[in-house]
Amino acid sequence: MSSALKKFIFYELSELQDQDFQYFADLTFSLSGIHLIPNEKNYSLVQNRMLKLIRKYGLNDYSHLADFFKKEILKVNIKNDFISAMTTNKTDFFREEIHFDILLTEVKKALNTRMEACVWSSACSIGAEPYTMAIHLKENLSSTEFDRVKILATDIDQTCLKSATDGFFNEQQMFGLNDYYKNKYFNEIAGIYEINSDIKNKVHFAPLNLFSHPYSISKNFDVIFCRNVLIYFTPTDRETICRNLSKYLQPTGNLILGLSETGSIQIPELKLLVNATYKKVT
Ligand SMILES: C[S@@+](CC[C@H](N)C(=O)[O-])C[C@H]1O[C@@H](n2cnc3c(N)ncnc32)[C@H](O)[C@@H]1O
Repeated sequence: MSSALKKFIFYELSELQDQDFQYFADLTFSLSGIHLIPNEKNYSLVQNRMLKLIRKYGLNDYSHLADFFKKEILKVNIKNDFISAMTTNKTDFFREEIHFDILLTEVKKALNTRMEACVWSSACSIGAEPYTMAIHLKENLSSTEFDRVKILATDIDQTCLKSATDGFFNEQQMFGLNDYYKNKYFNEIAGIYEINSDIKNKVHFAPLNLFSHPYSISKNFDVIFCRNVLIYFTPTDRETICRNLSKYLQPTGNLILGLSETGSIQIPELKLLVNATYKKVT
């Protein structure tokens, strides 16, 4: 088989060169704050993720893709493709379940003193996290209390947001939900689950880059989830993001990080309680 044919069939590409890795890593950092140090794991990550875009754009190799981005990255759809390729969107319904009980407790406290409680999932991926918030609150609050809760969900990745807004999940994405929840909150057709409209409409989705502070958000939140995203940022950036998020908390509000991220920030604005939950210091 000729090498041209082999390349055509198997998409066999030359290795990712150091200068192309660095270009993709720098671009990722400048657009999303995601920090990729040059090691074997990240070379392979960049290689796999950029391969999808090489295929999508019908290009020949990594250096052609780098040249393509040098010219085209300011185009919104190209930028979104790149960000979407470079973000890791792993999520599950009821992931790190303890946090949804903390959410419920804080929302109940807020509703005892105010007309409205507000919560924010600030790196929401395909929506499993904010939809879990809505489902858990719906299950445990009265309908009048539930009506008084507002849920905001944001992410940098527009492809994820589109999928979250559509509210369709395949069997694999339904991991974490038992039959009770599946039957009560979803309609299933041919292995695809659509979330019920009362839960879908409860969540307001919007694009937001955690690095684009100040955020165009006028509310203060009782609880902000910022889970399993800080791990991709530098230690200094993690603290900057949390300091910025703390400005959008109610005076006694809580910022909740991923369980593996507990202790990853130490700033005077926030006091660590348990389970990666931080309370605003006033
Ligand atoms: C691993 S997922 C975590 C999803 C969810 N919070 C959870 O714990 O299941 C990380 C999410 O952070 C988003 N993300 C990465 N960088 C971001 C940024 N600078 N601003 C906002 N979201 C970002 C990604 O698009 C991705 O959807």
